[in-house]
Amino acid sequence: MDYSKEAILINTQKKLVNHLPRIGADKVKDEILAGLRDFPKYISPKFFYNEEGSELFEQITKLEEYYPTRIEKKLIATISDNIPLDFYNLNIIELGSGDSSKISLLLNQIPEYVLPTITYFPVDISQSAIEKSEKLIAEKFSTIHIHGIVADFIHQLNLIPKTEKRLFCFFGSTIGNLTIDEVKKFMTALGSEMQKGDGLLLGLDMIKDIAVLERAYNDSEQVTANFNKNILNVVNNLTGSNFNTRDFEHLAFYNQEKRRIEMHLKAKTDMVITFNSDTEAIFIKKGECIHTENSHKFNIDSIENISVWADFHTEIIVVDKNEWFCLVYYKKNK
Ligand code: SAH
Ligand code: AVI
Repeated sequence: MDYSKEAILINTQKKLVNHLPRIGADKVKDEILAGLRDFPKYISPKFFYNEEGSELFEQITKLEEYYPTRIEKKLIATISDNIPLDFYNLNIIELGSGDSSKISLLLNQIPEYVLPTITYFPVDISQSAIEKSEKLIAEKFSTIHIHGIVADFIHQLNLIPKTEKRLFCFFGSTIGNLTIDEVKKFMTALGSEMQKGDGLLLGLDMIKDIAVLERAYNDSEQVTANFNKNILNVVNNLTGSNFNTRDFEHLAFYNQEKRRIEMHLKAKTDMVITFNSDTEAIFIKKGECIHTENSHKFNIDSIENISVWADFHTEIIVVDKNEWFCLVYYKKNK
């Protein structure tokens, strides 16, 4: 997560551009400090994803308890049986692309002779994730074009190239990590970026048995706990703070009223957190929590509600047999 160096690497197949420096390191530090000075304290989940955080998330996706990736991958692997996608000359833009393993399942379904007409734009805040996934996709699909974009999809959607014929993909139920305000802002911006006929494939994790949900965020190997705590290392890096991950306990539970898993970091001791330069220190009391993530869960009504801000219509909904996860294909109206 580099907010200071603009990097553009180009070879014949792959490009990479980092737009994060346009946001600027000072603004990011201010955003983090505002959350830490608020009550209750919070840190945006977008700060999970430095190199270590992206690796830990990849490990989460392979855990037995973490069902969403497994189910969504099955739905994507057979997507062309259910959704009539016209791949020729398609520009595929994947928001929060992570390890790009899901797009790989979609690309598998494209005939060999069509692949050279495809451009894939992975968009992610994690430069290491984009670099790693570009390499893997280029090795597997040597004829497609790859244009990686390191950017914040909440503030920088307008920097995505405005090409013809675009399919946006937003997998993993990552939309569930946004606040209601962010969803509104994001969907409004996405709707105004997209042109008539452009599509969006959106992955949504559905409301289900609380025990299943809570197990997915409290795995027996503590990978999710380490992922949660790693956000403090990212904050230390971006603000010069002195958080020690060992001073916090991982908490994850389902909030039934708000229909979301919440992740928090609970202080095990009183502490004083200092920052670089002349930023005032903050005090954290033993037992106080820092709210690090919401992971909203959805139902059939949410599918329509989400689309309203973007002026989309719902073309097709694909769900697994237990209705634990769904893929929605929206199209832009006008
Ligand atoms: N789509 C993948 C990864 C999901 S993890 C999957 O389904 O497995 C969420 C991804 O979104 C991470 O790779 C993270 O780096 C990225 N991300 C989170 N907040 C972001 C933001 N504001 N802008 C861009 N990318 C973001
Ligand atoms: C990326 N996102 C949708 C994951 C989720 O399930 O909310 C992040 C995650 N947090 C803990 N485990 C996985």
